[in-house]
Formats: sequence, C-alpha cells, structure tokens
Amino acid sequence: MAFGVYVHWPFCAAKCPYCDFNSHVRTAIDEDGWVDGILAELEWVAAHQAQRPVVETIFFGGGTPSLMAGKSVGRVLQKIAALWPMANDPEITLEANPASTDAARFGDCRAAGVNRVSLGVQALNDADLKNLGRLQEVAEAKAALCMSMRQFDWVSLDLIYARPDQIDATWRDVLK
Ligand SMILES: C[S@@+](CC[C@H](N)C(=O)[O-])C[C@H]1O[C@@H](n2cnc3c(N)ncnc32)[C@H](O)[C@@H]1O
Ligand code: SF4
Repeated sequence: MAFGVYVHWPFCAAKCPYCDFNSHVRTAIDEDGWVDGILAELEWVAAHQAQRPVVETIFFGGGTPSLMAGKSVGRVLQKIAALWPMANDPEITLEANPASTDAARFGDCRAAGVNRVSLGVQALNDADLKNLGRLQEVAEAKAALCMSMRQFDWVSLDLIYARPDQIDATWRDVLK
C-alpha cells in the first residue's frame, strides 16, 4: 500500500492577510523541541497503523518550511525512514516562500533528502504582491525560482487566481 506523509511547519516571517493556513509569526522558536514533537507524532501514527505502508511522498507544508534548518528536515526524514519502508524514488517536497529562501539552507535540505521545492510566487506584479501583503517583490521571486531550479530536480510554483481585481487578460499574461 502506498502512503504519503505530510509534515506541517506552522511558522512564517509574516502573516499574509488572505491566508487561512495554520501559520504564525514568532521571533524565536524552540526548533529542536518542535521537531521532537513531530518525531513523537510520527511514532504515534506508526504505532497505531495496522500495516507498514510504503512511503512514496513526503511533503513539508506550512506555514513556511523553507525557514526550517536542514538539520531539522534531516531529523524528520531519518525518523520516517526508520518507521516505514521507503519507495526507491520518493518525492520529497519542501514548501518555500521566496522571501524566506536561502541558498545554504536549500543546500542543507537537499543534502538531507529533499528533491522538490514548491515556491509561493502568488503574483508577477509588484503592486499585486503588495496588495496581497507579500514580503517579496517579483525580482526576488524570480531569483528564488532560479535558485530552486539550480538546486532541485523538481520545482513547482503557486499563483493565486481570481483575486478581486484580477481580469482574464492579466491572468493570461501571468500564465504566459
Ligand atoms: C501554505 S502556503 C506555503 C508557501 C509559503 N508559505 C508561501 O506563502 O510562499 C501554500 C500556498 O497556499 C496558497 N494559499 C494561501 N492562502 C490561501 C487561501 N486562503 N486560499 C487558497 N490558497 C491559499 C498560497 O498560494 C501559498 O503559496
Ligand atoms: S507565508 Fe504562506 S503560509 Fe505564511 S501566512 Fe503567507 S501564505 Fe500563509
């Protein structure tokens, strides 16, 4: 049986006004302690499963998992590999905010086993990004996209569609 593991990292550098996710701004967190909690939760899930399914995908979502230290990502991945059999080529994704990406941290996450990044680009116009309350400008999002494509095998990006002032023509431009 195939199995996907979702790990939530609920911290962000800033709270976007439209966001409905479990995400919170904290100046300092006990990262090791938080990861200890995730490991305990994984153990609990494994202990309550009737079978040992094969892990095919792992998704670090948020919040902003690109704020996690590579060491923390590695601890979670090692625990998952210890608890469940792993597929030969699991897809291991980290969600990233362009304003909270860093080449060294990406390198550490890649070394820990991450092979896919999902980047929150949202819009390709600085005024729209400002209206959305985003920390990044378009140039920063593009730089983060290029950096992601250099470091990871697979990259996806999010765009927000059907915003109040968005018309078909501008959406088509974004897609182009
Ligand atoms: C949870 S965020 C994680 C990525 C990262 N925190 C960021 O914002 O760049 C994942 C995606 O959810 C989308 N999102 C956020 N709030 C939403 C909402 N209220 N409805 C639909 N999608 C939303 C955004 O496009 C965002 O990129
Ligand atoms: S950075 Fe992402 S998860 Fe955090 S508040 Fe903004 S949209 Fe939500």
